[in-house]
Amino acid sequence: MKMKAAYYTQYGSPDNFSIKEVSIPFPSENDLLVEVHATTVNRTDCAILEGSWLMRLFTGLFKPQKAIPGTDFAGKVIQIGKNVTQFKPGDRVFGFDDMGLMSHAQFLVVNRNKALSMIPDNLSYEDAVASLETVHYAVNFINKIKTQPGQNVLINGATGGIGSVLVQLSKYYGLKVTATSRTEHMPLVKELGADIVIDYNKEDFLNTNKKFDFIFDAVGKSTFGKCKSILKDGGIYISSELGPNAENPFLALTTKFTGSKKVKFPIPFDTKASIKFILDLTSKEKFKPVIDRRYTLEKVQEAFRYVASGQKVGNVILSIYESTKR
Ligand SMILES: NC(=O)c1ccc[n+]([C@@H]2O[C@H](COP(=O)([O-])OP(=O)(O)OC[C@H]3O[C@@H](n4cnc5c(N)ncnc54)[C@H](OP(=O)(O)O)[C@@H]3O)[C@@H](O)[C@H]2O)c1
Repeated sequence: MKMKAAYYTQYGSPDNFSIKEVSIPFPSENDLLVEVHATTVNRTDCAILEGSWLMRLFTGLFKPQKAIPGTDFAGKVIQIGKNVTQFKPGDRVFGFDDMGLMSHAQFLVVNRNKALSMIPDNLSYEDAVASLETVHYAVNFINKIKTQPGQNVLINGATGGIGSVLVQLSKYYGLKVTATSRTEHMPLVKELGADIVIDYNKEDFLNTNKKFDFIFDAVGKSTFGKCKSILKDGGIYISSELGPNAENPFLALTTKFTGSKKVKFPIPFDTKASIKFILDLTSKEKFKPVIDRRYTLEKVQEAFRYVASGQKVGNVILSIYESTKR
């Protein structure tokens, strides 16, 4: 039996993708076969495609180990291996693995021990899949700090995937949120819960006379050096990027021992805990993922180009089921 999938054999640009007919994978005794309904194209997918030498240590030195891209999915269980007891055919499930799940395809096989979970009845496949990659990285920011209600946080890049989650999590913990976005996205950032929104095209947030307990640079466009002046003593800077000179992991070590303002580096781990946490928040109606555009599988190149532009708002969906059903 055959399925459609995005396919590539070389790192580099989205031009390397084609849509191929390949065999539907067969689940072994610990696996589930899932019919993919929705997946995202996200910045992790872009980083894997780009193939920096650091990334290649994990994804294949000379060519991608996995010829089908995609790190997350929401879909329906079709078949289970004999050791799978927690899921059954017909279940709606979703999951994420930043090293790749080959989910930009009509079907995938996933091991029962991976970070996956049932989708609650009131959550659509799209909302479920938009609550994975960006949420996991945002939760790992929050895990790095101890918050008290009323503390001040600045979130740079509040419309991005990670930023839009950070605004909502910060409000959940009772923080006062100042956030940056461009003019047209200011209403969205307010709606997500920001108390103050700074239009980054009109005003440099560094010019504010406020001081912050936390600065989350969710798009990695600033630096600890620049942000120091608006951090309180004891304040913490966290960025989603390594920094222009890959300095952030190093600063996370050195600022442990020097000065009162600290850098923390959010190495993401424990995806299962992130999924559990967001399911809890979703059930309390304290979290809603932001969805920007939807693409069909055939338009996967276009989707990657848009996401790599750094201008997406929240999440970009590949509507696999809708675009491939016969
Ligand atoms: N290496 C990896 O595996 C990996 C994985 C995930 C994320 N990351 C990194 O984490 C960062 C965030 O990822 P993401 O998915 O959350 O990002 P994203 O969704 O691609 O972020 C896009 C958003 O950034 C905002 N933005 C662009 N320039 C800005 C600026 N100068 N100031 C403020 N906002 C700006 C845009 O807002 P406006 O539309 O309002 O301009 C846009 O909505 C990225 O830098 C990404 O490279 C890396």
